[in-house]
Amino acid sequence: MGPCGHWFAREAGDTFWTGRAPHHHSASFLSRDLIHDASTRAGRISPPPRRAEAHRADPADRPWAVGVSTRSVGASAEEAKRMAGAAAVGEVESGMTLGLGTGSTVRHFLDALAREIQGGRLEGIRGVPTSEDTDARARTLGIPLVELAEVRELDLAVDGADEVTDELELVKGLGGALLREKMVVQASRRFVVVADGSKRVKQLGTRAPVPVEVVSFSWPVHLPFFRELGAEPEARRDDAGRLVITDNGNPIVDLHFDGGLEDPAEVDRILHERAGVVETGLFLGVAHLALVGTGQEVQRLARAEGSA
Ligand code: 5RP
Repeated sequence: MGPCGHWFAREAGDTFWTGRAPHHHSASFLSRDLIHDASTRAGRISPPPRRAEAHRADPADRPWAVGVSTRSVGASAEEAKRMAGAAAVGEVESGMTLGLGTGSTVRHFLDALAREIQGGRLEGIRGVPTSEDTDARARTLGIPLVELAEVRELDLAVDGADEVTDELELVKGLGGALLREKMVVQASRRFVVVADGSKRVKQLGTRAPVPVEVVSFSWPVHLPFFRELGAEPEARRDDAGRLVITDNGNPIVDLHFDGGLEDPAEVDRILHERAGVVETGLFLGVAHLALVGTGQEVQRLARAEGSA
């Protein structure tokens, strides 16, 4: 089980194997860079934008960038995640019902949120976790939890991302929680993304594959369909080569698009028409704000008025 903790793996027969050599990293949050590296070597996806491209300094190029809110001396990726996660607590007010996302950046948000609750600055907070992993962590931290069905509408969802564009379009789901994450986001009045700077891309699909959760019934029937769509599909497996199964009991197929996605909305539409596809990791037009930690600062990227 990966550090995410909400997957379990199931032995898969040869008929379920996609024909690729097994990867030794697909079930681990810690190994996503390896996924990218391996994919890049195989020529399936493009390398990520260089940092200079991903963090253009000219505000005229980024009218949606509200500016810098936090400074820090640390420069590691983990510090960047910590800064982004901690900054999101500034968006929370007492009495709010929150969507609690999944992943290593969200863990920092949960830590900071718990500190604010314990310190008495935030009262009456309730959280809806998007995975078993987040559920367990929030309980350990003493964050009060409720079921989505109990509240139906949430004030704010805070979640991580695997790719973030300037327009706040997202790829999510390398942590395997995309279905519950999308349900919670759709129930939320506002969605704040927390990410480190490495997640910023010009085009979706260039840094990460697009995860697609499918029902387990004869799921390999989708592979030719995904190829017709222009993707190289790769069933997600754990270190031992066993199929990774989500909290909902489904496999995930990661779609690698060579050169990225020209039209993410169209790909998302086509995928959703396919019986057996449960949900995609394309989160389009749903994020209101991204808090991006760079190690030195937290950038606030706000969606343009009227576009969300
Ligand atoms: C889980 C997700 C995560 O939010 C996403 O993978 C980012 O994770 P991290 O903050 O660990 O980089 O979508 O399904």
